[in-house]
Amino acid sequence: MPASFEDLTKRRIVPVIVIDDANDAVPLAEALLEGGIDIIEITFRTAAAADAITNIAKALPTMLLGAGTVVTEENATRAIDAGVSFGLAPGLNPATIARFQKAGIPFVPGIATPSEVEQGLSLGCKLQKFFPAGDMGGPTFLKALAGPYASFGVKFCPTGGVSLGNMNDYLALPIVAFIGGSWLATKQQIADKDWTTISRQARDALAAAA
Ligand code: 3PG
Repeated sequence: MPASFEDLTKRRIVPVIVIDDANDAVPLAEALLEGGIDIIEITFRTAAAADAITNIAKALPTMLLGAGTVVTEENATRAIDAGVSFGLAPGLNPATIARFQKAGIPFVPGIATPSEVEQGLSLGCKLQKFFPAGDMGGPTFLKALAGPYASFGVKFCPTGGVSLGNMNDYLALPIVAFIGGSWLATKQQIADKDWTTISRQARDALAAAA
């Protein structure tokens, strides 16, 4: 089912997942749910991404399921066919946005400049991923963007260099919807099937979130 703007902006922390084996997808999602996190971004950075999304969509319909690193129309179509509720990308690609919009599924394009914020708004994207957040100026830069753009209803989702230690610098800003991070379930922890650690990291992050 497509996510609504409210579904997404209610969440504060989104695990960014790189997964090598689609068989790990459901236990991984269950570990996050166990830790209290009911949203997940499966990135199209591995061959397992589409199957991982399909597996979670079938087994855990309560998980708010997103596809990340959707940078081609082909992967947009695969993500949509696999049953995602939303999509994200590190950059802004009008063709990918259009593919999701045609399917009625929200898309969160990546931005890193005022011009990209405006391009995203003109394409109807009120949620925008600020990437790579740490390298592009961090919370200070987002605070500056809030000046001209907050009144247009845009919300940002910083990822890239966000950690347990600095996430509240972002979450404290009213212009921020949620932060994303790969530390919540690393590629290695998933490969090791270390579900206990992943649940604990989810729980710790939620408990610490502003
Ligand atoms: C993303 O696509 O959101 C990032 O790769 C996540 O960045 P991180 O690994 O620094 O959390």
